[in-house]
Amino acid sequence: MSALLELQRELALESDIDKVLGRITAAATSLLDAERATLYVVDEARHELWSRVVTQSEFKELRLPLDGRSLAAEVSRSGRPLRIADPYGDPRFDPSVDARTGFRTRSLLVLPIDSRARERLGVLQIVNVRESVDQREGMFEESHETLGMALAASAGIALEYVRLTAELAQERLHQVRIAEETRHRLARDLHDGVAQTLANTALGIEIAQKRAQQDLPGALAELGTVRERVLEAQRGLRDILFALRPVVLEEEGLPAAVRALAQRIDGTAGSHVVPRNVDATRRLSPEAEAGAFHVIREAVTNAIKTGRAGVVSIDVRDDAGGLTALVEDDGVGFDVAATLSSYASRGSLGMLQMRESARLIGAQLTIDSSPGHGTRVRLRVPS
Ligand SMILES: Nc1ncnc2c1ncn2[C@@H]1O[C@H](COP(=O)(O)OP(=O)(O)O)[C@@H](O)[C@H]1O
Ligand SMILES: [Mg+2]
Repeated sequence: MSALLELQRELALESDIDKVLGRITAAATSLLDAERATLYVVDEARHELWSRVVTQSEFKELRLPLDGRSLAAEVSRSGRPLRIADPYGDPRFDPSVDARTGFRTRSLLVLPIDSRARERLGVLQIVNVRESVDQREGMFEESHETLGMALAASAGIALEYVRLTAELAQERLHQVRIAEETRHRLARDLHDGVAQTLANTALGIEIAQKRAQQDLPGALAELGTVRERVLEAQRGLRDILFALRPVVLEEEGLPAAVRALAQRIDGTAGSHVVPRNVDATRRLSPEAEAGAFHVIREAVTNAIKTGRAGVVSIDVRDDAGGLTALVEDDGVGFDVAATLSSYASRGSLGMLQMRESARLIGAQLTIDSSPGHGTRVRLRVPS
């Protein structure tokens, strides 16, 4: 017990995963009085178990197919501990490793290493319990198994921690990419829109100034054109601001923002954008509302972009425990799976970002479409 507590204390202070797993494996041999131990980790990609830690072995690394013959693979499949007194008499045992090394396996304790969600992360295999007076000869006892399971549980926590850390790093990178993409798009819109128009405006004013010397009516007409351009730039800027952060969303909530969006976008590319049942009254967190709005806006933009949707209808309704938004069009439709799987070779990330926004707010997104049958984008946001 005190050895186990000592180990727990050490593990709490150690951040190097290989040292942690090394100590657990070493403890498995010393506490159980065994000759050697191996800690296997599941390698999902290669469908193998690989020996992340080996004590006193002739091998640096062992790789066992998950669906092959070996007691470790057997335990990784079944999730049930095995205590084997006579491995050579067991058909699940693979004697080829012994054959290559000259080592003789006499008894085995093979234990699953699981995550808290009961996924199999690895296997702890402890070999050849040393014989002593008060033990039956060469047999792992139930008490060994109990102790071994405690060690396997520690290994599970360590492995899960490592996985979570890796996932977190991945997630952070992902967020940085998305932010970068958003900035790019914003820069492009500003460059092609407002910046362009302002440059033309300056030029127009210069022309008007020159003309004013001899041709006042001509100069006034020029100024009229310039004014149109400035107004156009202002509209462009407002669209960008609305896309970035619709004030109405914060102040009045999702339905009001969706109605404003419909009004703003209605008539673009000849389509008719209709807020149909936009009557939700429940307010969500600002993040959830922003995420939901982002999804709805992208869905509406996509629907009108193809230029062939006659009517795009939007619903935003309360439902039990949350809110459901639906964007429906009667346009050309598309092959959702094919589009999603071809993103690596595409320039735009619209639908990926839609999925991402939904995921971040814990919402469910379903996109239902096929060529010739219009498109329905449904978002279910829990409150
Ligand atoms: N409502 C829709 N109707 C028809 N096609 C759509 C619709 N929504 C998406 N698509 C198709 O999916 C493609 C990918 O959409 P998206 O990821 O938003 O990128 P983008 O809008 O920049 O092309 C679109 O180019 C279009 O071909
Ligand atoms: Mg798009």
